[in-house]
Amino acid sequence: MQAVGRLLNFVRAQSGIDGNWEDILVTVRVAAECEVEQLRDALPAVRATGYFNAGTNGPLPRVAQESLVEGATAEFEFGRIVPGVYERNGIRNRRVAALFADIVGADVDEIALTHSTTEGIGCVLMGLSWQRGDEIVTTNLEHPGLLAPLALLARRAGTITRFADLGNGGGDVVGQIAAAMTPRTRLIALSHVQWSTGAVMPLADIAALARERHVFVLVDGAQSSGQIPIDLHALGVDAYAMPGQKWLCGPEGTGAFYLRRDRLADVAPTYLRYAEWQESGYLLPKPGAQRYEIGEFNSPAMLALEAALSWLRDDVGLEWAYARTGELGARFWDAISAIDGVRLLTPRHRMAGLVNFNVEGMAPQDVAAALFERQMTIRYVVTHPCPPSARASIAWWNTAEEVDRLADAVADLAAGNGSRTE
Ligand SMILES: Cc1ncc(COP(=O)(O)O)c(C=O)c1O
Repeated sequence: MQAVGRLLNFVRAQSGIDGNWEDILVTVRVAAECEVEQLRDALPAVRATGYFNAGTNGPLPRVAQESLVEGATAEFEFGRIVPGVYERNGIRNRRVAALFADIVGADVDEIALTHSTTEGIGCVLMGLSWQRGDEIVTTNLEHPGLLAPLALLARRAGTITRFADLGNGGGDVVGQIAAAMTPRTRLIALSHVQWSTGAVMPLADIAALARERHVFVLVDGAQSSGQIPIDLHALGVDAYAMPGQKWLCGPEGTGAFYLRRDRLADVAPTYLRYAEWQESGYLLPKPGAQRYEIGEFNSPAMLALEAALSWLRDDVGLEWAYARTGELGARFWDAISAIDGVRLLTPRHRMAGLVNFNVEGMAPQDVAAALFERQMTIRYVVTHPCPPSARASIAWWNTAEEVDRLADAVADLAAGNGSRTE
């Protein structure tokens, strides 16, 4: 209570409101909701439908759209190659890398820009050196963005992929991964947040296990970056691939990956840009992770990504966004867990904003289609080996009312009011 009293005195002093604590709390809540509405104004797509699909693509902020248009217009009117453009783009790209580094607790020289999450995963998998029979441990919950490059590597280099069966990811994840490891295990490759159940993996513990056994850890950060706090130096993983277009609200065709500084020598670049080539015949890759950057980047997209990341960090505030995403995600989980005929896959004790569920008697595709008819956009997961589900990405830009409306719509479907194809 003492702390509450101190907080109220602080609020009174800051706000100039001299009322009782209930009035003050109402005022604070109303002010917070006004601020959310202002932020939502900057994301027009969240008003077009109930926007519950950052897991596929997040909404583009107005500043990103403006930068995209300005960049494309300048290229159209003045030409794409004007004096100094390479130098300016190079400096801008490093600013974008620095934003990624800041957001995920890394240093800028540990960040390579990419065109997608999958590209970052491929850079690491194809850059490590392999012997036939080397083993990689992954899980039953992964996305094809990780499983496809693993399959390619198996064919090309003779690696063996072992699947730790994590169920929905709510149990003894570290134990299951440890059980799938053998003396031939060289890599653990998994998502930080599972796209197929929303489970947040205990990454620091997995990294500790890997360190003990001298095994490399590659993380698919497609669903985690922008959804949950990430401190890569503290987590202790080796590599971490991210998209720009999902929870970070950037345009498609953008992304980045992190490679811990002391792992640079373990990952050979698979492709180099022509700018790396020396006529002398020596190969002189860039000193940091930038050496893995492949090809050129679309300039308007990079400007838009810079605007989106700066806006998220400086105007929205990431800590606030992560906390609100988690609170609203839990609100949705609690609401639909009480509905007869709804089965949740997401573990309540290990979740953030992604909530995977099934409505009995309905295919996940039908659930998504029926909700879309009701002006709410969600996604479905029906990709082997993951368990099938409908998936709502609940994010900080949603309101509590929207989340409740989505839960009511799910209840309506569970009561039999949705068309079914099976
Ligand atoms: C967990 C996960 N990994 C990888 C990807 C692929 O991402 P990208 O299109 O950026 O390669 C996705 C996209 O949905 C994903 O959810």
